[in-house]
Amino acid sequence: MAKLNDSLTFRHGATVNNRFVQPPMLTNSGEDGYATEDTINYYKAHSKSGGMIITEYMYVTENGGPAITWKRGREQLAVYDDKFIPQLKKVAEAMKSSGNKAIMQIAHTGREANYRAMQGKKVYAPTGLEDGLDFPFLPYKVHTLSDEQIREIIDGFAQATRRAIVAGFDGVEIHGANHYLIQQFVSAYSNRRTDHWGGSVEKRMNFPLAVVKAVMDVVKEEAPDDFIVGYRISPEEIHGKNIGYTWHESTQLIDEITKNYDLDYIHLSMPQYNAKPGDAMLLDMDKADSKFKDSDKPFATLFKPVLNGAKEIIVGGINDREKAEDALSLADLVAVGRENIIDPLFAEKILNGEDDQIVKEITVDQVKKNHMTQGLIDVYSGPKAVIPLAGAENIKSLHQGFGGWSEMKYPQNDEVK
Ligand SMILES: Cc1cc2nc3c(=O)[nH]c(=O)nc-3n(C[C@H](O)[C@H](O)[C@H](O)COP(=O)(O)O)c2cc1C
Repeated sequence: MAKLNDSLTFRHGATVNNRFVQPPMLTNSGEDGYATEDTINYYKAHSKSGGMIITEYMYVTENGGPAITWKRGREQLAVYDDKFIPQLKKVAEAMKSSGNKAIMQIAHTGREANYRAMQGKKVYAPTGLEDGLDFPFLPYKVHTLSDEQIREIIDGFAQATRRAIVAGFDGVEIHGANHYLIQQFVSAYSNRRTDHWGGSVEKRMNFPLAVVKAVMDVVKEEAPDDFIVGYRISPEEIHGKNIGYTWHESTQLIDEITKNYDLDYIHLSMPQYNAKPGDAMLLDMDKADSKFKDSDKPFATLFKPVLNGAKEIIVGGINDREKAEDALSLADLVAVGRENIIDPLFAEKILNGEDDQIVKEITVDQVKKNHMTQGLIDVYSGPKAVIPLAGAENIKSLHQGFGGWSEMKYPQNDEVK
């Protein structure tokens, strides 16, 4: 059985020093999409958080973000133009400063680009207003992407990959999870198209497959041989009566991806590392109907037959050695998110047998030590966060952001450009 201290070599030759991964987590530290000193200091403080550290999601075309923000002027990072490369080089350098691998997560946020909506710009999705689809949970309108725009976004993923290579990242992770654009295409609830990009499950897979192909083409042409490519997916999308897809369809998609493209890893995005069919996924509000609980096996196990040589990463709720070891008995690598926000030396302490030194709650002191960004502080010091953090009540005095969703004002549709 693998141990947390064991190294791992991916199929293209890159070796990570241990089995810990820091998963992508937004820092809300960008300015007009550029990484700032705050971003760089944060990632430097996290350079020991795993053998592999993945950046927060960066948007690949101008219309792909910015998404969630808690404070005006502090936003998601972008990678849609070469102008971002000099700052991104500094981010990669900071992440790699302790000898670990730096991966850039590349994304398009689709209908979730709410900070874009606040700025009065049009927000896009596979299906929107023009096709009669309204999202009752969004306080702004969403517009249908044209075929031309879809092709530009696919190229955007390719260009973002090229920029990640130039900036010195060791790999990219394609963000196909958590309700962002790629998942919106896969979801029968969000994607009502009847052209090449929607309809049957096979057609709903055309967009993710085209994105993976575009990324792999650039990697084969321009990246070092051991460049790492991963794909992140939410194993199912079931919110109450709205069924996006089940694990039967997501495993079909991953099979299709890994049979055709030699990806290094598949990263399952889950609220609990041992989640099973029917458990609510991250950001899904409702649990699934019992008919969807059709297996007692964890997703980690259900995805094994479709990995086709890719390694598997799982995540969710890991904050001590016991859970980390249990997770490693299910997959190749274990990602630790929120515990790394609290204590970026969590992995280091476990690897050195210093478990008693692990910090389990955020405090004002930890915020300073960790170079936690103000954007991230605002997530947890304000009104209750969607994904809670232990000890959030300790940092209330540091809040500078919005007082809640109701303070976030959106222009009306006739003011949207
Ligand atoms: C503040 C915060 C920001 C996040 N941002 C991203 C992101 O940019 N991309 C992504 O794929 N997942 C994102 N996630 C999800 C995490 O990667 C992870 O899957 C989740 O937090 C569950 O792991 P944990 O229980 O170890 O925190 C975010 C989570 C948190 C708490």
